[in-house]
Amino acid sequence: MTEAKKLYVKTFGCQMNVYDSERMAEALGGQGYEQVDTAEAADMILFNTCHIREKAAEKMYSDLGRLKPLHDVKPGLKIAVAGCVAQAEGEEILRRQPMVDLVVGPQTYHRLPAMMQAVDRGERVLDTDFPEEDKFTLLPKDRRPTRGPSAFLTVQEGCDKFCSFCVVPYTRGAEVSRPADRLLGEARDLVARGVREVTLLGQNVNAYHGVGPEGGEWGFARLVREMACIDGLDRIRYTTSHPNDMEDDLIAAHGDCDKLMPYLHLPVQSGSDRILKAMNRKHTAEGYIRLIERIRAARPDLVLSGDFIVGFPGETEEDFQATLDLVAAVGYGAAYSFKYSARPGTPAAERAGVDPSVADERLQRLQALITAQQRATQEGMVGRLVNVLFEKPGRIDGQISGKSEYLHAVHCAGPADLLGQIVPVEIIASQTNSLTGRLRAQS
Ligand code: 5AD
Ligand code: SF4
Repeated sequence: MTEAKKLYVKTFGCQMNVYDSERMAEALGGQGYEQVDTAEAADMILFNTCHIREKAAEKMYSDLGRLKPLHDVKPGLKIAVAGCVAQAEGEEILRRQPMVDLVVGPQTYHRLPAMMQAVDRGERVLDTDFPEEDKFTLLPKDRRPTRGPSAFLTVQEGCDKFCSFCVVPYTRGAEVSRPADRLLGEARDLVARGVREVTLLGQNVNAYHGVGPEGGEWGFARLVREMACIDGLDRIRYTTSHPNDMEDDLIAAHGDCDKLMPYLHLPVQSGSDRILKAMNRKHTAEGYIRLIERIRAARPDLVLSGDFIVGFPGETEEDFQATLDLVAAVGYGAAYSFKYSARPGTPAAERAGVDPSVADERLQRLQALITAQQRATQEGMVGRLVNVLFEKPGRIDGQISGKSEYLHAVHCAGPADLLGQIVPVEIIASQTNSLTGRLRAQS
């Protein structure tokens, strides 16, 4: 028997990349590759990259550079770059980094087996097409979930919104929704392999409008409701959503669909209408706050998270104050904030961003407010009973860890046979990024 070749995958960026990495590893499984945890042990290294901010792309180049000593002692080592930087800078990567054998964009990785054959013949391969064929139908059907009882499932890709700062419409292309029967089939298959929680993914997931099994079109709420009918699938989440696509039935589902978890990531980016307009967001701060009120009316215990950009071109102190006011009005359980990064080819990149030291200072102020809100939300959980899906052993012996319905990481002392189960846990303490719990039966 020939020994399996070893594949090391490093994923940058969003959850959609995590999903793509799993699917690429599955595709390469057919080429005799099995996954390992370190670059040193690998015959092939695959970087699945993110292009959303300049820093993310630069990080990929520096991480690639760091592979040089390993490549020097192991000349047969194959290096592949996939994902959004590959899509945006394909040729440039091959030029800047002679060690790289293969560059593959997010839409063509179903062709990886053929590409690897070319690489094995000594060719350098570049494939950043937006092909006619649907990669998902051509990838191996057998899913091998690697994240325990919680899995990602990409239902929609690309974006037609064209926020003026964002590269996604260019790197991932136009919005495409996968057919509903394939998604339900994939979810059932994941459940058969022990998965109990599925996070439906899309750059604009709630804009989903896929073909239904009988031919008509399904919106996102319909997809969620049908997923909820799958026996053994106990939890449904979704990310990332756009405020303008929160259809009434999706809001209603937050109130009446028990399997839809009470956590929602709903980016707003700024609290200033002037900046929202310049960002081409097509909603106002007030509109967003009213929307949150409607969703909270359906599901009062909902924990919200969001994304914010500070230092967008033209942002004044007054605009920034409006962002702080919005955050104060909404009350987030978690939120991600970024310094504006000009991305070549996007409309906003034609204007100068704010002074970097001003942007730094604003980021710190915003993050301080968000951290305080996150801490308050977590502390509000202490003394409460939550349901935890245990996913993996904890870092300390005898501990297990998982996620509450509110997506908080929860650690507690407990037996490993609870992994994969959903168990009531009493929260007894809050740390910076996690909660400590006690199994109900022990109290
Ligand atoms: N600069 C800074 N942050 C950005 N994001 C997207 N594009 C940029 C950019 N050019 C942020 C947004 C988005 C998240 C995924 O990344 O907040 O919601
Ligand atoms: Fe990054 Fe966007 Fe690509 Fe995800 S889709 S990896 S966030 S550039």
